[in-house]
Amino acid sequence: MPAAIVTGATGITGSAIVRHLIKDPSYTKIYSLSRSNAGLDHPKVQHVHLDLQGNSDHMAKDLAGVSAEHIFFCAYLPNDDPGETDRINAAMLSSFLSALTKMGEDKHIKRFVLTCGFKQYGVHLGRVKQPSLESDPLLLDSAGGVSWPPIFYYTQQQILAKAAKAGNWEWVCTLPEDVLGFAKGNFMNEATAIGLYCVVCKASPGSELPFPGNKDNYLTFNTWTSANLHAQFCLWAAKAAGAGNEIFNVTNGDSESFQNLWPKLAERFGCKIPDQMFSNSGFKDYESSTIQLKNTQHPLILHAKNMGLAKDPIATDAPTLRLQIDPEKWAKRSDVNEIWARLRKQYGLDQMAWEKATWDFLTFVLGRDWNCIGSMSKARKLGWTGYADTWDELVDTFERLEEAGILPPLQQLKHDY
Ligand SMILES: NC(=O)c1ccc[n+]([C@@H]2O[C@H](COP(=O)([O-])OP(=O)(O)OC[C@H]3O[C@@H](n4cnc5c(N)ncnc54)[C@H](OP(=O)(O)O)[C@@H]3O)[C@@H](O)[C@H]2O)c1
Repeated sequence: MPAAIVTGATGITGSAIVRHLIKDPSYTKIYSLSRSNAGLDHPKVQHVHLDLQGNSDHMAKDLAGVSAEHIFFCAYLPNDDPGETDRINAAMLSSFLSALTKMGEDKHIKRFVLTCGFKQYGVHLGRVKQPSLESDPLLLDSAGGVSWPPIFYYTQQQILAKAAKAGNWEWVCTLPEDVLGFAKGNFMNEATAIGLYCVVCKASPGSELPFPGNKDNYLTFNTWTSANLHAQFCLWAAKAAGAGNEIFNVTNGDSESFQNLWPKLAERFGCKIPDQMFSNSGFKDYESSTIQLKNTQHPLILHAKNMGLAKDPIATDAPTLRLQIDPEKWAKRSDVNEIWARLRKQYGLDQMAWEKATWDFLTFVLGRDWNCIGSMSKARKLGWTGYADTWDELVDTFERLEEAGILPPLQQLKHDY
């Protein structure tokens, strides 16, 4: 009966993995690791307080008695500086691995599953080749004559592969796209920011729901990753024949777009779609933004010659975000804050949700004008059949946010406004 270790067990991806390990009868013991709260309370779960930024000797002491065949590494600390993000997250993984080695626990590992993401392809830097494939070239050093900012996943993958080779065990790396899920006390997710935007629009005069981003974004295709589906994938990848020492895209398996999702959001929250979604005059009260991304080029440039697009602006122009309503500016407006304050008081909502909501992330995902689709073929060829409907997952996440007092109870909101 295998045991499992989950680092980052209180986060969005990690907590979903713990929940799915609990349901899987083939796991009898789950060690959930993080610095803060005790995570999920269940007889199979033992929470261990662990600071991955501490040194590996201290960590080895904290981990005394912890032993597992399958390890799921979801710990993550973001930083505004990509170089610092690289240094911090590489050090957390490296120290954890060295603590396991010091304890002699590396001998028990069969597979180590590391959660990374679509930044692997540079979706945060500009337009990427579509669909993105696991075999696509990395944005390393001066690939394509461009000085790319560090991508911490690459460093983590190198550290992991080296440790696996030395310890004679296998690694798997997952690449989820924007994750739809909920973790207690963690407000940093796209669904929270979208939900807050929708409820404030609902309570605004006229209840209109203008799309904050640009028209190209509205019409492009995207994929999302359900935290639940990602967890199921990780459990599959920990055991699937042929999955060892491989990297996999993990997306819901449908292709979605805001032209499809936005009217559904309007209907769910009882809002009105504006007659002219992209009429400037309609939203003159809001501040728009045009943001040119600094120190980057479109990763598509690496493929441009091969595609006959080497001189095409689609590959060579400066990556730029365009928003008709910039969520970061919108969330600072006094009228918007007054409406939020009224909702918070009326329904007893969590102020931290508003303060910690990732408006900058929403500015990014709605302001870009490029598709983000990853192929699922590689995993499917090995037998992966998982699938999730993005709209259903979004609704599920909103319901959990409503239960947690982050969004108002929907029927009450619709009745009151
Ligand atoms: N969320 C997304 O939309 C998304 C999308 C694509 C890829 N990803 C990738 O998925 C991975 C996991 O991200 P996530 O969104 O699940 O993260 P998250 O929700 O922010 O959770 C991070 C976890 O790491 C733990 N942690 C942070 N610092 C720690 C430390 N010093 N020692 C021990 N534990 C620490 C946190 O717990 P404590 O604070 O309690 O320690 C928490 O459990 C990352 O590589 C991320 O880039 C995320």
